[in-house]
Parts: sequence; structure tokens; C-alpha cells
Amino acid sequence: MYNSQNTSILVKWIYQFSKYYISCNSFISLMTFKDLNIISMKDFSRETIDHILNTAEKLEPVARGVEKSDILDGKVLSLLFFEPSTRTRMSFETAMIRLGGRVLNLGSVEASSIAKGESLADTIRVVEGYSDAIVLRHPKEGSAQMASELVSVPIINAGDGAGHHPTQTFLDLYTIRRESHLDGVKIALAGDLKYGRTVHSLCYALSLYGAEITLVSPKELRLPDEIIYDLKKRNIKVTQTDSIEEAIRDIEVLYVTRIQKERFPDPAEYNKVASSLLITPQLLEKADPKLKVMHPLPRINEIDPRVDDTDHACYFNQSFYGVPVRMALLALVMGVLE
Ligand code: NCD
Repeated sequence: MYNSQNTSILVKWIYQFSKYYISCNSFISLMTFKDLNIISMKDFSRETIDHILNTAEKLEPVARGVEKSDILDGKVLSLLFFEPSTRTRMSFETAMIRLGGRVLNLGSVEASSIAKGESLADTIRVVEGYSDAIVLRHPKEGSAQMASELVSVPIINAGDGAGHHPTQTFLDLYTIRRESHLDGVKIALAGDLKYGRTVHSLCYALSLYGAEITLVSPKELRLPDEIIYDLKKRNIKVTQTDSIEEAIRDIEVLYVTRIQKERFPDPAEYNKVASSLLITPQLLEKADPKLKVMHPLPRINEIDPRVDDTDHACYFNQSFYGVPVRMALLALVMGVLE
């Protein structure tokens, strides 16, 4: 027997199913960005990624403030950050502001009802009513996926624990394309490959571009086996080493990551590996002069500040590219660009 409650559950179920259907890799077509959740790079085809990067390129003059746009006039983006953030949060805000939209920020967890014990699920359902899209960063893996199953507005995963960080990957790919080249790029990923969500997401995307990947980390911080398995299944050449000196000679991009102190269950384990990587100008003398050094930032002590003055350093450009890339993602999921 149908009553209005049953009907609304049915409608919601059909809606969720269609969102799931759309977000399955091979089903994302260039026409279906509106309302798309951005949860994991595993969901994106190369064609879709290229379209997002091309859109970002067109928006770059707006990101730089050289051109004006108000395509997101009247739109509201909510930012829910349950972990610290500078670049991701502020570049989403900048992206919205530069396109004429508004931002609502949950602010500190202590100042919100979370401090009274409200669940993430309830918070997300409430914030849905205020927003055209929600950006979520949360320490729990799978939280963005869970949120996307509760609401109808698009959820953008800005990092779920050690899981994924897809919008960082879009900007990383944009940087590689802009400052080096993407197709068949020879890249080393160095640092904390176990807990670093940026490298997890990046690996999946690089596999679509036939990259040759060298993984550089101490044994304790190796890339999870299931990701290596997935890369090999996609016929990607993956090499593992713990020697940065060995890896540096034959690569075009070096992607350095911070050791993710907050994710170590045992502080003693962190101390063992805390200083296992240091990129110096001397080390870079052994590299191709065109080698680009990237880092999602914040850096702690992985890159000597003297590297900043070399042509290798591109991490500050990389953090700026977060603005045009996030503009593109917002305009696409809010349905104002196709
Ligand atoms: C990264 C993150 O939060 O995963 N930062 C970022 O978003 N730019 C990397 C890190 O915290 O080490």
C-alpha cells in the first residue's frame, strides 16, 4: 500500500540509485556533471578528467583575478571541515567568491552542534537544506560516500581519513599537465605512501595516463597492497624503492608528501620514520634539470627551503592551481557549465 511516506522513500531511493549509476566510472558522460558526487578518483574516466582540466584552464584568468565572472551568483557552498585545512578550504572559498557565489563555513567543530554530540549524518542532512553543494573533510574513511547516500546535493570529498582526496588529484594533474606533461609521465611518489590520501587518489588517475610510477618510502610506509594490485591490473609499471638517490635520476616529476603524524596509532612508530626523507638542492643536482618537485603541502621537513629558489620547485604554483580546478568542479556539479 502506498502512502506519501512510502512514495517519498521510493523517490529518494530512485534518486540515490541514479546518482550511484551516474558516478560509476564508465557511466560518467560529459553531459552528466550536474549533481555529481566527487568521492574517489576510481569513479573518473580519462575523458571526464580531461574535460575538467580543460574547463579549469578556461577559468584560470578568473582565478587570477584578470577576468571577472559571476556564473555562480546565487549559489551557496557549505564547507564542513572536521580536520585542519588551509589550502583546500581557502581555495574552495576563493573559487566560489571569484565566481560570484557565497560560502557557508561550519567553522570549528567546538563552535557547532557537533560539540553537543550531533552525528555527522544529522549535520549533513541539516546543511543540505542550506546549500547547493557540500565540501566535506572528515577523519573517517568512507565518510564522504556515506554523506552522499544521505542527501541530494553534491558531496565533494575533501579528504576522508587516509582514504581519498580527489580534488587534490585534479589540481595535481593540472599542475603536471601545465608544468611538465601527463601522458606517460615518469613520476616518483615519495614519503608517506601508506597514510597519504593524496597519493592514493593520484595513483588511480596516473594509471589512466600510462604513467611510469616509482614509489619511494621506508618499508613501514609503503603504498597499500590493494592499490599496487589495482595499478598492476591496469598495466602500469610500478617500481618500489627506499632510496630517493636511486629514484631521482630518471624521473620528470617528484611528488613529495608529509609523514602523516596524526594517523599513526603509535607515536614511537612515527618517530622511527619522521626524518626518513629530505629533498635538498644537492640531491636535485643529480636530477634532470627539467624535473619538477611537487608537494600537496603542508611540508614539515621533507623539502629543504633552499629548493624553493630552484626551477624545480612548483609546489606554490600547485597550491594556486587549486583555485581554477575547484572553480571548474563547482561550476560543473552545480550545473552552470557542462
Ligand atoms: C593534504 C591532505 O590534507 O591530505 N593537504 C592538502 O589538502 N593540501 C596533505 C597533507 O596533509 O599532508
